[in-house]
Amino acid sequence: MASFEKMSSSKVLIIGAGFSGLATACQLRRELNCDDYIIYDRSSAPGGTWWANRYPGCAVDIPAVFYSLSFAPNPDFSKVYPPQAEILEYFNKVADKYDVSRHIVQNTEWEGAYWQDLTSSWVVKLKNLTTGQTFYHDCKILISAVGALVNPNRFGVPGVEDFKGDIVHTAAWKEDMSLHQKDAIVVGNGCSAAQLIPAIAKEARSITQFIRTPQFYLQNENRQIDDNWKFVFRYVPGALRLRRIFDNNKYISCLQASNVHLTDDPIVEISTHSIFTKSGQEYPADAILLATGFALTQYDVELVGRNGQTRNEHWDNFGYKEAYKSTAMSGFPNFFYVLGPNSGKGHTSTIYSIENYVNLIMKVIAPVIQDRCSFVEVKPESEKDYNVNLHEEIAMTIFNNSCGSYFIDYKTKKNWFIYPWNSFVMWYSTHWGNLDDWTYDVRWLMKLLVDEPKRLTHE
Ligand SMILES: Cc1cc2nc3c(=O)[nH]c(=O)nc-3n(C[C@H](O)[C@H](O)[C@H](O)COP(=O)(O)OP(=O)(O)OC[C@H]3O[C@@H](n4cnc5c(N)ncnc54)[C@H](O)[C@@H]3O)c2cc1C
Ligand SMILES: NC(=O)c1ccc[n+]([C@@H]2O[C@H](COP(=O)([O-])OP(=O)(O)OC[C@H]3O[C@@H](n4cnc5c(N)ncnc54)[C@H](OP(=O)(O)O)[C@@H]3O)[C@@H](O)[C@H]2O)c1
Ligand SMILES: *[C@@H]1O[C@H](CO)[C@@H](O)[C@H](O)[C@H]1NC(C)=O
Ligand SMILES: *[C@@H]1O[C@H](CO)[C@@H](O)[C@H](O)[C@H]1NC(C)=O
Repeated sequence: MASFEKMSSSKVLIIGAGFSGLATACQLRRELNCDDYIIYDRSSAPGGTWWANRYPGCAVDIPAVFYSLSFAPNPDFSKVYPPQAEILEYFNKVADKYDVSRHIVQNTEWEGAYWQDLTSSWVVKLKNLTTGQTFYHDCKILISAVGALVNPNRFGVPGVEDFKGDIVHTAAWKEDMSLHQKDAIVVGNGCSAAQLIPAIAKEARSITQFIRTPQFYLQNENRQIDDNWKFVFRYVPGALRLRRIFDNNKYISCLQASNVHLTDDPIVEISTHSIFTKSGQEYPADAILLATGFALTQYDVELVGRNGQTRNEHWDNFGYKEAYKSTAMSGFPNFFYVLGPNSGKGHTSTIYSIENYVNLIMKVIAPVIQDRCSFVEVKPESEKDYNVNLHEEIAMTIFNNSCGSYFIDYKTKKNWFIYPWNSFVMWYSTHWGNLDDWTYDVRWLMKLLVDEPKRLTHE
């Protein structure tokens, strides 16, 4: 590690300027009166998900009264399900109101973090994406608010680099791109595709949507949709369970438009102005719009805790990917996740979860922030008990499905994404009965108690 002498420092370092980072920053100030923090984010603007996803049609899919921070209600939303731009505007308003904006440093990638026993602090490795330069930052408390739906899935079809039109992912939209009179290819059939297609159907000359769902098979044919709903239930994974993806019926009725086509014929090759499918069809293409989702690689950053143990070694020793109440791991003092392993909930506002976890973190770190001790660490036995219960619960739910899901770790067969209990349990368990599960460092306090009287008697 190079030039430590120029290292910047702060009491708290937050990685990620989305709603998790924002809520953490607001509560540091509101609850702990702490202004000594910095937020690093690799994007060029704040907002996380709501800055990255600027594709046409992007909107929140739960009523916005629930998709807002409890301490900062917003009377200005124009609709029950407001569009992306309004959520982003709300984000920036809250960031200004709570004086968070000036603490955010953009274009900075988090690359690693190394626990220092001697100083009870984290040395965090960062990269300035403007210059490519690496630098280090020292902090007492390190908070990972890196989100999950951040890193777009790779699209590796042969010939993709020869394509002459635009290729854009929904989470990296080119705002100046026009689809007027263009033949557009949409890849994927998740929520992003369902929002995108109706929003561009009038502008584009044609839209062909490619879906890939190996568990459902139908003959390869580029069919016009007649019995739409039946088709969708067959093809769109989870449509029966999550109706709410299509709550305004826009996507379904859009599939009837004469310029919109849907096929499961896999794309096998791409050339300069068209794509080729497995059945041998060629589709002219001016733009390829990837609604292909995200690679869940949010835990790949190198994290080295006590005794040089890495995060992956910790998980290997533990038996699987986990954290105590989705927030902390033993051997990693003063380190917290906002939406860590097993924090994912299907049907409620993610902001509700974020606020609960932030509440827990604030309670636990208070003595460190107030300099009453130098570190806090979850007890290994509490971490174990919590996760045994959690996986017993998961085993009894629909999330324990052996036919595979991208949340299930292939090695350990454990679902590391889903939170199996209800919202009340989440609230209760992040607000009550936590302090016995943590070890606080009182060594220096003891030292003070021993040394101070000694000093006094010597004088
Ligand atoms: C299109 C879309 C629609 C959604 N709609 C809803 C909805 O309707 N309701 C709902 O509850 N949830 C929805 N979600 C989920 C949404 O992600 C969460 O609600 C919430 O915004 C997550 O906030 P976050 O701060 O945890 O993560 P994010 O908003 O993803 O922010 C994480 C930030 O961390 C930064 N970051 C990550 N890794 C690094 C690194 N190594 N170095 C530096 N910076 C890093 C990223 O740049 C990003 O800015 C949606 C997600 C998507 C993609
Ligand atoms: N507010 C909202 O309503 C809203 C809007 C958008 C997103 N979201 C949330 O954001 C998350 C991500 O949604 P998303 O729609 O972006 O992603 P997603 O749900 O992961 O869907 C991605 C789609 O792309 C397909 N795909 C991936 N790679 C492919 C490839 N190489 N070739 C062909 N198809 C490929 C997948 O098919 P397979 O199924 O075969 O893998 C899947 O249909 C979800 O959790 C969703 O809830 C919410
Ligand atoms: C990164 O480099 C740019 C250009 O020199 C500079 O303006 C910016 O402040 C740097 N960022 C950090 C975090 O030092
Ligand atoms: C599902 O449950 C079975 C039996 O209870 C268990 O052996 C298996 O590991 C569970 N799978 C997951 C993904 O939790």
